[in-house]
Amino acid sequence: MDFPIFHLEFLGNRMLIAITAIIHVLINHPLAVGAYPLITLLEWWGLRKGEPAWDKLAYRIVFIVFIITTTVGALTGVGIWLTTSLVAPFAIGSLLRVFFWGWFAEWLVFISEVGLIMAYYLTWKRFATPRLKRLHVAIGATLSAFSWLTMALIVAILGFMMNSGAWTQDKSLWSAMFNPLYLPQLAFRTPYSMFTAGLFVWFCIFFVTKRDDPIRPRAVRLVAIWTLAWLPLVVLGALWYWRSVPAAMQANANVALLTQAFSQWHGMFIKIIGYTVAVVAVMALIGAVRPRALPRYALLVPFVLSIWLLGHFERVREFIRKPYVIADYMYANGVRVSALPVYQRDGILPYATYSAVKQATAANALVAGHEVFMLTCSRCHTTAGMNNVITKFEHLYGREPWDHEALVGFIQGMHLTRTYMPPFPGNEAEASALATYLRSLQPPAPAVSAAPAVLTANR
Ligand code: HEC
Repeated sequence: MDFPIFHLEFLGNRMLIAITAIIHVLINHPLAVGAYPLITLLEWWGLRKGEPAWDKLAYRIVFIVFIITTTVGALTGVGIWLTTSLVAPFAIGSLLRVFFWGWFAEWLVFISEVGLIMAYYLTWKRFATPRLKRLHVAIGATLSAFSWLTMALIVAILGFMMNSGAWTQDKSLWSAMFNPLYLPQLAFRTPYSMFTAGLFVWFCIFFVTKRDDPIRPRAVRLVAIWTLAWLPLVVLGALWYWRSVPAAMQANANVALLTQAFSQWHGMFIKIIGYTVAVVAVMALIGAVRPRALPRYALLVPFVLSIWLLGHFERVREFIRKPYVIADYMYANGVRVSALPVYQRDGILPYATYSAVKQATAANALVAGHEVFMLTCSRCHTTAGMNNVITKFEHLYGREPWDHEALVGFIQGMHLTRTYMPPFPGNEAEASALATYLRSLQPPAPAVSAAPAVLTANR
């Protein structure tokens, strides 16, 4: 283990990554992946019909999409690299090694995508003759393909982190890319991007056209049909994905608790997809048949639902992967599964580059305990902020001074009953030091007799 330890006390490391990554996905899927093909379709439709009104509409929408994708979208994309490299450099390091050529390709595709976005937006007005206009539509189509390809490459890595599949044996890039969750997840994300793009563009139409603009109902109808057309694929993709996950997880799950919690998560997930699909289906049908009937605020409901669902989907994906950051290979605290026995025998401190002490002893218990906490718990817990470990222990052992042995016992067996946590990667002396450190952070128990008196006095 050779990394400095980054720790965000209030928000927690997990939340930092989650916020950045979820904002990124919420922009990437509906806008970069979904909206560019839809906008290109609007542009092409205008060209085919010989009606400049479509072109004008598409241009106004592409402006919004261009601004958002190249600012918040691009920044949060880089932000994922920054935050994950800070919090889990070991995991990023492994992923870079496994997916070296995949990531290399992704980088080329991404650079091309950015170039194409620039070209598509900046040449829009200049490419005015029919011949150039056709070329412009072709740029839009290529951009759409590249945006999808970027996602398609990244999804391979996301699937891999959940189920590393045959890679565990053969260590080949091919097995890593085509992990068991890859195609099902791609089959869900692709139509989902298109469908949320439909809702987004639909919403935009209300802002970029006047109420009595004749293009408005016609555009609403086209976009409603687009949204409706992707819906069955969303459902099929979700079902395929849903079926692929439990089988993969059951292989890791040896305790019923996880399976139960897991199936509840998924039951809810599927239910919410069901509601969202139903609401959107009804709205899109109305939009296709009577495009003037729906006011703009009515669109907020399916839009918010589907965006929330996408965020939730990412959260579930992250949660069910626990205790691993890379399935069966590396725990979320950065310990490789194969290195665990060594750490449990020798302790983790002798192997940690950035630790004030190299061994836990009775004399340095507090310092060593803090280092052990940073190394083995801090990726997921704080001691005063989000997912605060002190409050967790309070819930378990109450507010009376905690029993040292009970804490040591918990630490050494925590993975057995709470399978979302990795096994403690340290030896007996380090578990004891960690317990000492945690006990030092326990808030003093309320004085039983004095507290009510103070309360009464204050009243
Ligand atoms: C992979 C991330 C991860 C790591 C690493 C991790 N935990 Fe946890 N831990 C969790 C999650 C998630 C929960 C459940 C949070 C909740 O209540 O929703 C949890 C819950 C707990 C609880 C409460 C258990 C209960 O049944 O109420 C304690 C105590 C705890 N962790 C201690 C630790 C200690 C000590 C370490 C380090 C040795 C550690 N955890 C490492 C993720 C982790």
